[in-house]
Amino acid sequence: MAVPTETVYGLAADAQNELAVRRIFAVKGRPSTHPLIVHLAQATDCAGWVREFPPEAEALARAFWPGPLTLVLPRGEKATDAVTGGQDTVALRVPAHPLTQELLTRLGGGIAAPSANRFGRVSPTTAGHVRGDLGNDVEFILDGGPCSVGLESTIIDLSHGAPALLRPGGLPKEEIEQLLHRPLALRQTDEVRVPGTLPSHYAPRAGLFLVEPGELTHRAAALVSQGKKVAVLGRSGMPLVAGAVLFVLPDEPGARARELYGTLRKIDEAGFEVIVSSLPAAEGLDLAVRDRLTRAAAPRP
Ligand code: TXA
Ligand code: MG
Repeated sequence: MAVPTETVYGLAADAQNELAVRRIFAVKGRPSTHPLIVHLAQATDCAGWVREFPPEAEALARAFWPGPLTLVLPRGEKATDAVTGGQDTVALRVPAHPLTQELLTRLGGGIAAPSANRFGRVSPTTAGHVRGDLGNDVEFILDGGPCSVGLESTIIDLSHGAPALLRPGGLPKEEIEQLLHRPLALRQTDEVRVPGTLPSHYAPRAGLFLVEPGELTHRAAALVSQGKKVAVLGRSGMPLVAGAVLFVLPDEPGARARELYGTLRKIDEAGFEVIVSSLPAAEGLDLAVRDRLTRAAAPRP
């Protein structure tokens, strides 16, 4: 079944039921060696899932759970190879959405859930997106309304060495650094298998061109003159380009993050061939928006 979280919708299975977990990989079309996040009702439920829960994990859990933060920790006996992709670590998160909170409390266990989209595509932020992507491959969708954060959780690796940022997300890195009183390391993507960090990911169907803000209108006009059906992903009040359609992302970073995926889907549904956009600053929630746009623009296999 698919479940709502505050970040994006997840494709859920009882994390200790190996058959159910394998079904997730089949439906998503995701390589089985790519690990899943285990969702729990509360931090105390981490017992058994992890071998150790270091003080920095305690501090982060106390400050930010339930919320858009995933912690990678040394795995415990409850974490199977099906969930961890055979790694010695497990990714854990306590989501904030009340429906999924209730489901977790009633289940009394962990729910393994990747984003409920086909592998490599944009994550769903409404029940309608999930149905549109996965069709009848998903039987039940718990409709919890539109996701309040709108992009995936921030992933922090606390399993070895200094805390490292594996994926920027719905919790700004600055808030984590402030709490830990130290900067986060940036882990190289080839050190650990994280599909969200493959160069091409979170991609709309339309090709995405990233340009400097001052180049936006010029580039869009050039693509229009080549006969392309062009969408401009920009700010309200920016100059319009004849023949291109402007899709506005809000000025406020929280709203921008919340609306990014839905807007990319709208552009796809309207049949645009190319999207022209610039990147927001590498700070706060915009770091995640920037990351997703960069990956969406990367060359595709
Ligand atoms: O907000 C979210 O995190 C959403 C909602 C549904 O909770 N979930 C999500 O799942 O984005 P998914 O599978 O699309 O991305 C999970 C990321 C993947 O990049 C995966 O490789 C990484 O977490 N991950 C899982 N276990 C890991 C581990 N043991 N070590 C490093 N990365 C891990
Ligand atoms: Mg995903």
